[in-house]
Amino acid sequence: MNAPPPEISDSWDIPDGVTYLNHGSFGPAPRPVRESQQRWTAELQRQPMEFFVRRLEGLLDETCAALGRLVGADPRDLVLVDNATAGMNIVARSVELEAGDQVLLTDHEYGAVRRLWQKTCQAAGAELVVRRLPWPLLEEDSAEQLVEHLAASITDRTRLLVASHVTSATATTLPIEMICQAASRHGVPVCVDGPHAVAMLSLDLEQLGCDYYTASCHKWLSAPFGSGFLWVRRRHQHRIRPAITSWGGSVSGRDSSWKDEFTWGGTRDPACWLAIPEAIAFLEDYGIQRFRDQSHDLVNQARRRVLELTGLEAPTPESQRWYGPMTIVPLPNDPAAETGHGHIDPLQKTLQQEFGIETPVTTMHEHRYIRISCHLYNTVADIDHLVNSLSECL
Ligand SMILES: Cc1ncc(COP(=O)(O)O)c(C=O)c1O
Repeated sequence: MNAPPPEISDSWDIPDGVTYLNHGSFGPAPRPVRESQQRWTAELQRQPMEFFVRRLEGLLDETCAALGRLVGADPRDLVLVDNATAGMNIVARSVELEAGDQVLLTDHEYGAVRRLWQKTCQAAGAELVVRRLPWPLLEEDSAEQLVEHLAASITDRTRLLVASHVTSATATTLPIEMICQAASRHGVPVCVDGPHAVAMLSLDLEQLGCDYYTASCHKWLSAPFGSGFLWVRRRHQHRIRPAITSWGGSVSGRDSSWKDEFTWGGTRDPACWLAIPEAIAFLEDYGIQRFRDQSHDLVNQARRRVLELTGLEAPTPESQRWYGPMTIVPLPNDPAAETGHGHIDPLQKTLQQEFGIETPVTTMHEHRYIRISCHLYNTVADIDHLVNSLSECL
């Protein structure tokens, strides 16, 4: 495997003494992206009237056009939001639920997403149904089994299915297109929680078959923090209720569109969004598939070596079908470790405090995993350090 040349990996300023293997939670931006963000802020500060009143709408359009090309979407169907959480909240406000309705989630959904739908269902007198997926996924037909299993929970009261494209706790790429097809056979709309998928996977939102797609660009795309998007299929756009009510119209006199509610949400610095095209250009100049292949190879090296160390079996085959540059590897259980939100696994703390390694240790259905993310700044030396540190700890 070829490593990225230094001019690429040196574009990040990870401090000495830190082994950053958690791009999947918070993906720092390379230097050209940070510089682009700073230039946009400087332009705004130079002449705010010119920037906000006469240029902003066009600039946001350019960002949506670049993003649309990356994710296979018509820019007219995309709005820029702060992050996937903001996008998902907008969907939760917009889907009309009545008492007795159901919202279906998989048990691999992100904790904050599950909490949002729990509260949304509670407020409407609806029911949240969380379906446990088959796990591990080692069979030839695991994808089909998973989809069948999930679809078996669809009833005539299901109003929405929410599923991650790439899960957080298990770092697994769900067969989302098949999930959308199954839901569509029952006439159930799908909201995909997609923050990890942007840049990690080749996306074609038009073809995916979902109804809503929420994403963060500050993960694998390495755009500035605070940049995300929401994509909505045309037939639902008139029902979308933004989280912030503002002027709701075009400042430059354009024809009205559902996007107007999002263009101006009050005065704020939009530089994080305007630097998205630079983040796309950075990865495309390097070669986006090359990034995917190299980072997947590196994460596989880590996976193989940690499995050797523990003698445990991975929950998915070694394949880009099930994970990209982020994967989980099972660890022996620690009966003393408290789990759940707000509890950091003692091993995660030790890795950080004693070895300078940033990587989450998660628990899912009583199984403990380490989640390893690799981006272009990670090296074989990082994996050596992780494996050596783990062999001291376990
Ligand atoms: C699957 C999934 N959904 C949603 C989120 C929330 O993303 P953000 O904090 O960027 O809104 C995350 C964050 O890690 C995630 O992994």
